[in-house]
Amino acid sequence: MTEWQKSAWRDKPRVQMPDYTDAAALRSVEGRLAKYPPLVFAGEARRLKRELAAASRGEAFVLQGGDCAEAFDQFSADAIRDTFKVMLQMAMVLTYGAKVPVVKIGRMAGQFAKPRSAPVEVKDGVELPSYRGDIINELPFTSEARLPDPEKMLQAYTQAAATLNLLRAFSTGGYADVHQVHAWTLGFTESEKAAQYRELAGRISDTLDFMKAAGLESDTNHNLRTVEFYTSHESLLLEYEEALCRLDSTSGKWLAGSGHMIWIGDRTRQPDGAHVEFARGVLNPVGLKCGPSLTADDLKTLMARLNPENEEGRLTLIARFGAGKAAEHLPRLIEAVREEGANVTWVCDPMHGNTVKSASGYKTRPFEAVLREVRDFFAVHKAEGTVPGGVHFEMTGQDVTECTGGVYAVSDENLSDRYHTACDPRLNASQSLELAFLVAEELTAHRDGRAVAAG
Ligand code: PEP
Ligand code: CO
Repeated sequence: MTEWQKSAWRDKPRVQMPDYTDAAALRSVEGRLAKYPPLVFAGEARRLKRELAAASRGEAFVLQGGDCAEAFDQFSADAIRDTFKVMLQMAMVLTYGAKVPVVKIGRMAGQFAKPRSAPVEVKDGVELPSYRGDIINELPFTSEARLPDPEKMLQAYTQAAATLNLLRAFSTGGYADVHQVHAWTLGFTESEKAAQYRELAGRISDTLDFMKAAGLESDTNHNLRTVEFYTSHESLLLEYEEALCRLDSTSGKWLAGSGHMIWIGDRTRQPDGAHVEFARGVLNPVGLKCGPSLTADDLKTLMARLNPENEEGRLTLIARFGAGKAAEHLPRLIEAVREEGANVTWVCDPMHGNTVKSASGYKTRPFEAVLREVRDFFAVHKAEGTVPGGVHFEMTGQDVTECTGGVYAVSDENLSDRYHTACDPRLNASQSLELAFLVAEELTAHRDGRAVAAG
């Protein structure tokens, strides 16, 4: 492989990216972004890589979650706080079940660009370019709104910077202090699982009281008072990604300064394509979405390209096959990993293989299918003797009705009540918490199963 350059992706086949018509405006935006501060720092990306390495060995567990697409008109401090809160709750439930640290990664502060299954949308005989996320164009079905506008990258940067600023404050400013475990609940999540969470929070509080009484807890115990919270997004709009690349003086390597972790989507993982070319050269941890069409040979090529030094924690394989399909696809990909002796962290995305059109016309995901894919994922790893390293959800702290099912039994007819996503349907807060309990059960069983096998 030739030496990497941040602009070399421009010579490769580009898919899923807009063709900007105003080249001068594009150049001007890229020039401005290139002078802005990076959103994340190399040391943070390296630390996340170490934590993902631990997850690949079963010594940590990844919880990655957030919006399908962040939207300019849904940007608010409350929405960020609520998603952060639900992730803290879920992480607490998972830590309790898995007995390992939970690596918290938001699909936040940069998750703006969307790949689409069709380049155009046709309505009543009118054909327009598809909506590709707020960083590129706008959702309304008019030709002006659908025109890609490079200036939107600046607004996305500003929103990402403000989001990250708030997340950093929440993570270290006292809000995420484990003594607040009771305060992270959300008013509307009154359900059996909310009660189960309160019970767990009570046990954690008791433990903290005990530790304090026994002199085991000092006021300065950093691990109890703060959390690490990382950001991630699909590295899709490469003009934006390249403009935010920064040279890390410590290692002499390039950092994708747009987020801690970037991933390559299932539609843009062509081994010789632009997206793989860009991701292979940055020092950040990289995710790769693995859908049913990924062949073992392509996976081998991709692993060699994206992780040539076979570094632990560098490459996360995000399996997204659809309920009932993991048994067919996951073992053959696990075998490819084994044949290469490759280090990877396996994460389950039970969302993107389970999108269906409801009778009422909304895109939805049945909670049952989501849950089934998670179970399949654990079952295959158990049978293969490999490590289920984490989960990846599209979720929100808002009380939306986008996925059907769950303890509140959102039905087809309910979908229109509070359907707010700019793209794919998300789990609401109570469905997310419910899922966390179910994943914790799977993790406990997996751990105990392994302990039995080892003993
Ligand atoms: C996504 O994560 O929003 C997405 C589009 O996923 P995938 O590439 O797996 O379809
Ligand atoms: Co999505």
